[in-house]
Amino acid sequence: MTASHESNDNTQCSSSSYRGYAGLPPLVGLETMEAAQNKGLTVAESVARLKRFHWALKRLHGIFVARIASTPIYELKMAFGLHAHYCAEHVGEFAKRVREMRQPPYGLEVCPDPGLDQFFDEILSAPTIEALVLGLYQQAIPAMTAALSRMIADTHKLFDHPSYRVCRLTLVEMEDVLHYGEQAIACLVSESDRAALRDWSSSQDRLLAAAGGLDGTETPTGESVERMFSAVPYRYDGVPQRDQRFKDPYNMGVNAEAMLFNPEVAPLPKSIMLYFKRMREIDVPEVMSSILAETPGKPWEYSRDMTRQLWDEARHAMMGEIGFVSLGIDWTKIPLNFTWSLGMNTQLTAMDRHAVLFTIEQGLMPKKNGKENEWEIAVATENPLAAMIQDYDWADEILHARIGRDWLVPELGSQKEALAYGDKTWSRILVDWAKWREDGLTQHRNWWPDAYRQACVHWGIEPDPSILAYNTTYENTRADLKQVAG
Ligand SMILES: [Fe+2]
Ligand SMILES: [Fe+2]
Repeated sequence: MTASHESNDNTQCSSSSYRGYAGLPPLVGLETMEAAQNKGLTVAESVARLKRFHWALKRLHGIFVARIASTPIYELKMAFGLHAHYCAEHVGEFAKRVREMRQPPYGLEVCPDPGLDQFFDEILSAPTIEALVLGLYQQAIPAMTAALSRMIADTHKLFDHPSYRVCRLTLVEMEDVLHYGEQAIACLVSESDRAALRDWSSSQDRLLAAAGGLDGTETPTGESVERMFSAVPYRYDGVPQRDQRFKDPYNMGVNAEAMLFNPEVAPLPKSIMLYFKRMREIDVPEVMSSILAETPGKPWEYSRDMTRQLWDEARHAMMGEIGFVSLGIDWTKIPLNFTWSLGMNTQLTAMDRHAVLFTIEQGLMPKKNGKENEWEIAVATENPLAAMIQDYDWADEILHARIGRDWLVPELGSQKEALAYGDKTWSRILVDWAKWREDGLTQHRNWWPDAYRQACVHWGIEPDPSILAYNTTYENTRADLKQVAG
């Protein structure tokens, strides 16, 4: 020890000037010595707040998931996917922290305050996009970030460090959600929308006040607030909706897989088909959210894994969007059909939907016509963006196949039984290619030549007449290249 370090010794009895060896911050820099003696919550107080965060995140997750399929606006669908994923991850962390500090029963399945539940019921039942967006991003998320900030300020960062850490990491992501939400409100909610929702907004404020705030730190007013949007109990609506940029949603006029996996076709134009297949994946979050919404009572790990996959599928759709923009292709001119999610969500039970999804995803694992093959095709296009997209798409699929094995296979017996069941169920979804045309739902327009021409302009090449003439539909062939059941 040097003399200068020794000279610190006479300050060690004073809290305000207390320093560690060679001036190092004491208490690992978490708290000053002064604050460390004078702040903090009891374990009971900390647990009470954590349970409310846990409950609020669980309810928020449920709202984001429930509104994915029926929300038409593509960007919001994607955002709800990410925000549901954040909530799902943190629900588990809060539950784990509560279990660390308390003996069972933990009371994690019980609503901490009926007013809090009513507050979230109202948002879940919001009758318009404007009300939904305001409820989520102007009411619930700001209440969440404020409550987390308060917990971080109040709790003892050393004594209650694991809680502090969970709150801090959650806050980082909830602030991102808030930032996005503020932009969504600015883009989607007008002053007159706000005015029309003023009574509702103020009744939401009163509900939170009645519950003592989201975290229960204020004295509850105990006021009984009348239900407005949730006066009639919420009923899940799984019918997928798309905004007006998505035209001709029954169109199955261009069979992407038949070109993609045809070795006779040169790689470059196949990048358009890869981007089409990726962006068409908007239908997977629509299906996965319906499975989640209609399978209550599962362990939280199930919801967390399935929500992670849901978000991955939303990412895949956005990868396709990036790809189209990179080629100068206007994707609104390409029919991104919703017939798969529509059929799945309206004709099958949640379990059957999961089985079909499982069968499709397991089918992507073999080398031929699977994810690895798509990546090889993308590499062969010599376009680094296409290659990177397929590289990550393939990586994500490995996790998805595992999620299916973990959660679905045990329900259906064995891997083999689950696959056979999913395959049979898939063939049961009514895909009536000819009838949709007869009924005037679509002409199955061949959109390929226009998209290919646009890309050729971007590439600075003349279209190849044999590729321009591509005209294979889904009339007789499923996306996995099996014949459609008759
Ligand atoms: Fe995917
Ligand atoms: Fe997947």
